[in-house]
Amino acid sequence: MQGLNNKKIIFVGGKGGVGKSTSSAALAMAFANAGYKTLIVSTDPAHNLGDIFHKQVKHEKTKLANDLYGIEVDPHKESKRYIQGVKENLQGLVHSRMVEEVHRQIDMASASPGADEAALFDRLISIILEEAASFDKIIFDTAPTGHTIRLLTLPELMSVWIDGMLEKRKKINDNYTQLLNDGEPVDDPIYEILQKRKEKFTAVREIILDGEKTGFIFVLIPERLPILETKQAIKQLDSHDLHIETLIVNKVLPAHADGEFLAKRRKQELDYLTQIEDIFSQKQLVRVPLFEEDVSDLDKLQRFADHLQYLMKEESP
Ligand SMILES: Nc1ncnc2c1ncn2[C@@H]1O[C@H](COP(=O)(O)OP(=O)(O)OP(=O)(O)O)[C@@H](O)[C@H]1O
Ligand SMILES: [Mg+2]
Repeated sequence: MQGLNNKKIIFVGGKGGVGKSTSSAALAMAFANAGYKTLIVSTDPAHNLGDIFHKQVKHEKTKLANDLYGIEVDPHKESKRYIQGVKENLQGLVHSRMVEEVHRQIDMASASPGADEAALFDRLISIILEEAASFDKIIFDTAPTGHTIRLLTLPELMSVWIDGMLEKRKKINDNYTQLLNDGEPVDDPIYEILQKRKEKFTAVREIILDGEKTGFIFVLIPERLPILETKQAIKQLDSHDLHIETLIVNKVLPAHADGEFLAKRRKQELDYLTQIEDIFSQKQLVRVPLFEEDVSDLDKLQRFADHLQYLMKEESP
């Protein structure tokens, strides 16, 4: 199996609270320390990169350390910016009489479910396409499972949707051409905008489907529901040709944790750890122990990262 070292883009997913942000931050820090120019992107509405690095991470690229940059994307603000962009894009394309009505419709669309997600997705695409050339590693700290899967499968869905739109547009255009222009083709800026979007989606899809460039990590903890959810996520992503190769098994009780209570928990945990080894035997598994405290500063993050060193080897067994 290829190590993560060879991949440029890494998505980190998993159930809520299992340690996605911590794992992403630790990996990012480790890569930066190893001399890779690294960008960490948080797409999670509940942000916490800033908490981990004790720096305010902004909507635009923010320097966090040597060779390490971060971006926090706020889906709601992104959606507002996006709508503004759509309005600007349409300027000059619709008749001035219609502008108000079109804006009203766009505002309504922007309040509909999925709008923030669509905007977030657009930003994600831009980040991949624009930053890939200037970074060695781009790590995406994503929102909990369902969200991530939707996000990752959107290029596929959107391409189909845009294809439909393009076809409709073309028909309308052909009719216009016949009617108005004596058969001379007319320019259709909306067609061109759609076509450009489609090209972007296709480009991103190619990148995320390319196992040489993009890797998927899932974080889970040794408990029943995260195991089930991980199984489900692997299956779902596989069906879209996106393959999770690496699992970080986080918050494993350390051997030195003592007491009767913990002994009991450890017994149950052992059962789950065995299940994990069985069910995910084809995956690269890395265990990270539960620490006494939250991973809330750079020293602790370094301790966490020490457990991930194995992932960064050129070739992993
Ligand atoms: N191995 C560990 N030992 C102790 N605390 C940990 C460990 N891993 C993560 N934590 C702590 O658990 C909490 C949740 O971790 P984190 O924020 O990384 O999870 P997440 O999966 O990103 O959560 P969310 O789904 O809310 O984004 C944090 O307070 C973090 O410091
Ligand atoms: Mg998080």
